[in-house]
Amino acid sequence: MRFLPCALASLLALCQRGLAAPPSEGNITNGPAGDSSLPNGPPNPSLLPRITPKVMIVSMFAPEADVWYENMRLDGFGDLLALNISVPGTSPKYPYVHCTLDGQVCQMTTCEGEINAATSMMALAIANQFDFRKTYWLVAGIAGVNPKYSTIGGVALARYSVQAALQYEFDAREMPDNFSTGYVAFGTMGPDHYPTILYGTEVFEVNQALRDRAFDYASKANLTDNEDSKRYRARYKPAGNSLAMASSGPSVVKCDTVTSDVYYSGKLLSESFERTVDIWTNGTGRYCMTAQEDNATLAALIKAAIFGFVDFARVIILRTGSNFDRPPPGVTAYEHLLVLKQNGFAVAIGNLYLAGIEIVKGILNDWTAVFDKGVKPCNYIGDIFGSLGGEPDYGPGSLTGGQPVKPAV
Ligand SMILES: *[C@@H]1O[C@H](CO)[C@@H](O)[C@H](O)[C@H]1NC(C)=O
Ligand SMILES: *[C@@H]1O[C@H](CO)[C@@H](O)[C@H](O)[C@H]1NC(C)=O
Ligand SMILES: *[C@@H]1O[C@H](CO)[C@@H](O)[C@H](O)[C@H]1NC(C)=O
Ligand SMILES: *[C@@H]1O[C@H](CO)[C@@H](O)[C@H](O)[C@H]1NC(C)=O
Ligand SMILES: *[C@@H]1O[C@H](CO)[C@@H](O)[C@H](O)[C@H]1NC(C)=O
Ligand SMILES: *[C@@H]1O[C@H](CO)[C@@H](O)[C@H](O)[C@H]1NC(C)=O
Repeated sequence: MRFLPCALASLLALCQRGLAAPPSEGNITNGPAGDSSLPNGPPNPSLLPRITPKVMIVSMFAPEADVWYENMRLDGFGDLLALNISVPGTSPKYPYVHCTLDGQVCQMTTCEGEINAATSMMALAIANQFDFRKTYWLVAGIAGVNPKYSTIGGVALARYSVQAALQYEFDAREMPDNFSTGYVAFGTMGPDHYPTILYGTEVFEVNQALRDRAFDYASKANLTDNEDSKRYRARYKPAGNSLAMASSGPSVVKCDTVTSDVYYSGKLLSESFERTVDIWTNGTGRYCMTAQEDNATLAALIKAAIFGFVDFARVIILRTGSNFDRPPPGVTAYEHLLVLKQNGFAVAIGNLYLAGIEIVKGILNDWTAVFDKGVKPCNYIGDIFGSLGGEPDYGPGSLTGGQPVKPAV
């Protein structure tokens, strides 16, 4: 059954290769933004039929992807497995990008962790089978959840994504007595200082006006819940008001994600990363979901945006809580992570789709009126260096005097 779409995909790939000029002397450019005459540059639709998705759903592993395949077809939004497109450089574990037959909604699976997410996203963003200049990116995954702001099955839409593990780390048994955590920002002498050495991926900020629209759409969803999740949530009740969100049912909230390859768990590390988000976003971010990929995904999209392949103002970060980042009262960090069953996986996957499909529907329904021309950001968007232009509202300020970084030629 794979024959036709695959044949189509490889034919497309062949055509693209046929068009590519042989490498020449000097610096081989990847096509400066706006110049679509170069073979590997941003798409020139007149050269080839490219797929121009309105929405690209980004999943990190199979369960996050399957929930879309299974339900979109049943709900009449199209069959995501109608087109399978092979994109060089994506994960061999998930070899195809999938699209509905009309190419309006597509989905890719990056594979888990920062390295997989960054490399797969980079390959996809510059793939010559697609024109992503108007595409909305719905990064949709399950997450660890901060019980102060949400719960298992809860849905969060982020403005910031912070790569919290870009720090020095002491084992807590060896740290100075006066340290509150073993994590210390690069170039500083102790916890709770702003880093003085930056890699550029510490903090990403996405379009808040788009996030707020996505929140309104997602809020229409009737979220799912089950008895097993309710049982674990109830354990947070004795903690009182500060963790009231943990023991109530799932809802849609606005708060931020922390990315770390280390799957941390427990009160102290969670509080340490809460502080990191607070300091690195200059007090404007609020950490509620953990993710092993978001910063990496955003880093790839920033780079692709600099070269004109994608519009960074069209990125949405959706996370649903599958497990709490820290234990309820009376439970050790060890029991919480490795022994007890939190039972949040099914509701997190279920609500990923239920909230996510409302966002997809919203974008498709309001395409002509709103999304085709784009939702104008009201906040700074981009990375900590100001790479896309503008002044970051966190960090030490733009490295380029507020101007966008220009691709090298
Ligand atoms: C696309 O790939 C999926 C497996 O990932 C397969 O189930 C489906 O049948 C393929 N679609 C076509 C049209 O071949
Ligand atoms: C290649 O790029 C380097 C660094 O940007 C620059 O110094 C050099 O002049 C470029 N070479 C050519 C042939 O354009
Ligand atoms: C904490 O301990 C370190 C190492 O002993 C010391 O250098 C530093 O001054 C102390 N900081 C504070 C705030 O006391
Ligand atoms: C990750 O992204 C978030 C916002 O999207 C940003 O605040 C954070 O600094 C990023 N972290 C790294 C290490 O890039
Ligand atoms: C949610 O449930 C209400 C009441 O049954 C219904 O009117 C509404 O259409 C449902 N919303 C969605 C998105 O299915
Ligand atoms: C963020 O906080 C750091 C450390 O206090 C400061 O150096 C920087 O100027 C602040 N940035 C913004 C945009 O407020």
